Amino acid sequence: MIEYKNDIFALHGEGFSCLMRVNPYGLLELLHFGEPISVDDAEAFTLHPGLGWGESVLLEEGDTQSCPDVMPLVWSGSGRGDYRESPIQLGGIPTDFRYHSHEILPRPEPMQSGLVQAHGEGETLKILLRQPGLELTLYFSVFGGVLTRRTVLQNCGENTVDLTRLMSGCFDLLGEYEMTTFDGGWIAEMRRHVTPVGESRVVNESVTGFSSHRHNPGFLLSEPDATETAGNIYGFNLIYSGNHYGAAQRSLQGFTRVMLGISPDNFLWQLQPGERFETPEAAVAFSTEGFGGMSRKMHRFVTEHIIPPYWKERPRPVLYNSWEGCMFDFNHYRLVSLAREAKELGCELFVLDDGWFGQRNSDTAGLGDYTVNRKKLPYGLSALAEKINGLGMNFGLWFEPEAVNPDSDLYRAHPDWALTDGFAPLLSRHELLLDLTRPEVRDYIVAEMSAVLDSAPITYVKWDMNRHSIALGEKAHRYILGLYDILRRIFAPRPHILLESCSSGGNRFDLGMLSFGPQIWCSDNTDPIERIAIQESLSYLYPQSAFGAHVSASPHAQTLRTTPLRTRGNVSFFGCLGYELDLGHLLRIEKEEIKGQITFYKKHRDIFQFGAFTRLKNGWQVSDGKTVLAAVFRGQTPAAPGYETLRLRHLDPEKRYRFTSVPQKLRIGPFGSLVKHVAPVDLDPNGFVLRTADRLITLPDGGQDLLASGAALMAGVRLLPLFRGTGYDKNQRTLTDFGSELFVIEEESL
Ligand code: DGJ
Repeated sequence: MIEYKNDIFALHGEGFSCLMRVNPYGLLELLHFGEPISVDDAEAFTLHPGLGWGESVLLEEGDTQSCPDVMPLVWSGSGRGDYRESPIQLGGIPTDFRYHSHEILPRPEPMQSGLVQAHGEGETLKILLRQPGLELTLYFSVFGGVLTRRTVLQNCGENTVDLTRLMSGCFDLLGEYEMTTFDGGWIAEMRRHVTPVGESRVVNESVTGFSSHRHNPGFLLSEPDATETAGNIYGFNLIYSGNHYGAAQRSLQGFTRVMLGISPDNFLWQLQPGERFETPEAAVAFSTEGFGGMSRKMHRFVTEHIIPPYWKERPRPVLYNSWEGCMFDFNHYRLVSLAREAKELGCELFVLDDGWFGQRNSDTAGLGDYTVNRKKLPYGLSALAEKINGLGMNFGLWFEPEAVNPDSDLYRAHPDWALTDGFAPLLSRHELLLDLTRPEVRDYIVAEMSAVLDSAPITYVKWDMNRHSIALGEKAHRYILGLYDILRRIFAPRPHILLESCSSGGNRFDLGMLSFGPQIWCSDNTDPIERIAIQESLSYLYPQSAFGAHVSASPHAQTLRTTPLRTRGNVSFFGCLGYELDLGHLLRIEKEEIKGQITFYKKHRDIFQFGAFTRLKNGWQVSDGKTVLAAVFRGQTPAAPGYETLRLRHLDPEKRYRFTSVPQKLRIGPFGSLVKHVAPVDLDPNGFVLRTADRLITLPDGGQDLLASGAALMAGVRLLPLFRGTGYDKNQRTLTDFGSELFVIEEESL
């Protein structure tokens, strides 16, 4: 709800209020952004600078209240007495925008530039500020528990304006904060770092042309004593896939100025008379209930207001992806045989990854030529897709539409279509980006992809992009506008196609890409132990339904770590489950286990994909309010481990629940030479008998089943003891290194 009363703007969302006023100088002051309060309480939040501060530059001589440098603002400028970081820069021209008028709109005003914005119900406050020759509009919208902001600059004068920075939003928050950022690189996405915000600026910025795995655009500000369950947290994100900037810095007066928007790095946009520039929309979730409360709000926002409405809570298929199992080495028959195996295991969608077109036999050639490689697929795509449909599975396909290999027919025909900068081409993964700012390039991609998508029954697209850009500033932004244009033209007429975006894994995991496709491949790193950290970090800002999460081979390709199949499944369950390994290499007992995993996942798919996600001390839980699924993950196994407790959350303390562990099987192999102590004959752990037994025999493990109240389960259920070297017992948990367990907690019906 948005109201304007007693000269106060009050925006109320679920669990927050934002109160602002136009102060006597025409500047927009932030009175409060936090806990829900009434507009009638505004006086309590009005600051009184008294006799002011020693070094004040005053807007009005003699008026100690008129120092912009010490005001809590939601917008400011440069060169006019506020020496804190400015959200706008016009190439050296002072900026001093003052209030002109406002409107409260029943719904968000559509964007005009081709950027994406939150959709659905949401009231909007539109405030117009002016300075000679320029109009600045600030948009504030409320979507459930999230406040969004964006800014539009209009050149109403007669001269071209050099826009070098325009932030989507800016807030002066009173208090001390820590900034959490999610940083990394290829196969090292989303490493969580916490930096105290002091007088020196803390910056979260990407300049690779994309939102990037180096610094995800989302970041958090938390009060230093905040925890997972308590304390004030602000979660910030940007609905944008290009270079971004987020910054926080504390002033002497104790305000933390936080802002976010397009990165100003090398940015120069020449705004001609009569033109407007629109920023991406920024989203802020506030919660008093710690990191968990903030995440739940962000998750709902993404599900309800970001992803395409067609995919809202629509179950995502269990898929098989050919990449890690085949790479470029496949043909029609191998794919059909894999598909048969995948179907047998329970997969619902078969995805043919890279390598199906042109001369794409390695990553050095073929990108750009989307004609089927007849050597590998002599019967074509539609025959393959139909064959797979005949097996009872849907068919999905990989593309990397934004890039081109110099060794391709496309490049040979149109070398000028590649993105260049006047210097020698800079290749990465043997490829160049196409210049999406050119309409003919966009038309080509739309036509080529549309033709392929309409040539066969394709229900899923993996949209990959595997390099950083060389475009700077304005060009980089125009590239993203071009990308959105292409995505809109291809997928708006085909809403039923499930689009999973990918950029060497999570190099473009952002709300912009999620606006076109509801899921993103989190990382090429599928080692489950690394994935726990990646998915957990993503969970701060994105719902698990946005995560493409696959079980891959062990030992893992990047870490050479051996992990139980069980754990690989348990981690991938908390996302959109897939399998990405050579199914031909699986043992029978592994296939049986995978079948069990997929059956279990399908039974609880709605909860895994769309349930409320909670980070626990030693694992995760998801819940639909009646049933909770909880996983406990462990690292290295110590000798003589102590007792372990699982504290669940968000149960009804009064209700009774059945708490059961999901049956788990142990292989004989890990017991090694111990087997000879229990066997009547001396068995060599490397001998034929034990190696064969390891492939055939499994033992039950750690079955727990009890009834308890929600209060007890939240206080902490005691898990069964762990293996301590004293022998095997099916009523203990014999988890090896990197083991994990899954529990089902179901409300007892009376
Ligand atoms: C990078 C992606 O992240 C992988 O999953 C795979 O699709 C390869 N590209 C294919 O080249």
